[in-house]
Amino acid sequence: MQRTYIMVKPDGVQRGLIGKIIARIEKRGLKIVALKMYTITEDVARAHYGEHEGKPFFQSLIDFITSGPSVSMVVEGKESVKVMRSIVGSTNPLEAAPGTIRGDLSLDMGRNIIHASDSIESANREMAIHFDESEIASFTRIDEQWLYE
Ligand code: RTP
Ligand code: MG
Repeated sequence: MQRTYIMVKPDGVQRGLIGKIIARIEKRGLKIVALKMYTITEDVARAHYGEHEGKPFFQSLIDFITSGPSVSMVVEGKESVKVMRSIVGSTNPLEAAPGTIRGDLSLDMGRNIIHASDSIESANREMAIHFDESEIASFTRIDEQWLYE
């Protein structure tokens, strides 16, 4: 099973969307194996979004992501990186398909409420930034025998 890193960004927390977002992930059959709320520090934000350093939107992205509490998760399941990117939708909410989290719940590129790792390599890097291995649970969900053939 594959793991990916997901974050409900500070705007999702402020708008009371944590529960709705988590419900969509669970309903798909994906398993939440780590979960915590904290306000990301400047250093953690710069490490997390390191690939965007030097781009025009970098500093506003860092300011936003550190502006208040966010919810970090590790989500596990079949092809979880790809599945979560499709549940989340396009970066620009105006182009995100209806039915996706961004396409249903947001309007602005800089306030797109959720982050999902874009590759297995990114997922491994991001999980290590936000979680200690001891914080990630290992358990079988009772419905797994009906989710997977
Ligand atoms: P994220 O990393 O936050 O999940 O978003 P993403 O993969 O869909 O998009 P990415 O290219 O990694 O961009 C990270 C965040 O930076 C902001 N952004 N602004 N103004 C712009 O051109 C621009 N491009 C990206 C977005 O808030 C995006 O979520
Ligand atoms: Mg990204």
